[in-house]
Amino acid sequence: MIKHVPNTVFKTRVRNDALDGPNPFEWKDLSSDDIFKGKKVVVFSLPGAFTPTCSTSHLPRFEELYDEFKAQGVDAIVCISVNDAFVMYQWGKSQGAKNVFLLPDGSGDFTRKMGMLVCKDNLGFGMRSWRYSMLVDDGEIREMFVEDGFEDNCPTDPFEVSDADTMLNYLKS
Ligand code: BEZ
Repeated sequence: MIKHVPNTVFKTRVRNDALDGPNPFEWKDLSSDDIFKGKKVVVFSLPGAFTPTCSTSHLPRFEELYDEFKAQGVDAIVCISVNDAFVMYQWGKSQGAKNVFLLPDGSGDFTRKMGMLVCKDNLGFGMRSWRYSMLVDDGEIREMFVEDGFEDNCPTDPFEVSDADTMLNYLKS
């Protein structure tokens, strides 16, 4: 297992009210250090914004349990998906996500370096993230929960261990 999170640059979009026009957003690059340095971060990564299990269970449960994660010393909860910044922004908005930071890995660079990039051409998705979660302390990966059955074009969507409750129970134990 890799021990340190990979270096990458995440391309995010942020609101800038000083901008005119119907789309007052601008690009903001965030490095791995920006996300992880000096912080205890819980990451969960999933195959796609707006997909059913991700929207009804994976993301909402981390949202719900945010205060409990904070009580365990977690500084931030980050959701990664191989989707672009525009899609991730709209998904967060539609989910009313206030606690979890949705981080677009649009190019899949971080996910590939994590060894978690899988082909989902069977669904017309292209390359996406396998479901996993991890606890990262100052950039060091302390624990990882990776779903079983890692493979390209997996006909199922295993979701047993990368959920919020598993990570929270681990933190409490
Ligand atoms: C889901 O979250 O339900 C899902 C994810 C990837 C592909 C299909 C469905």
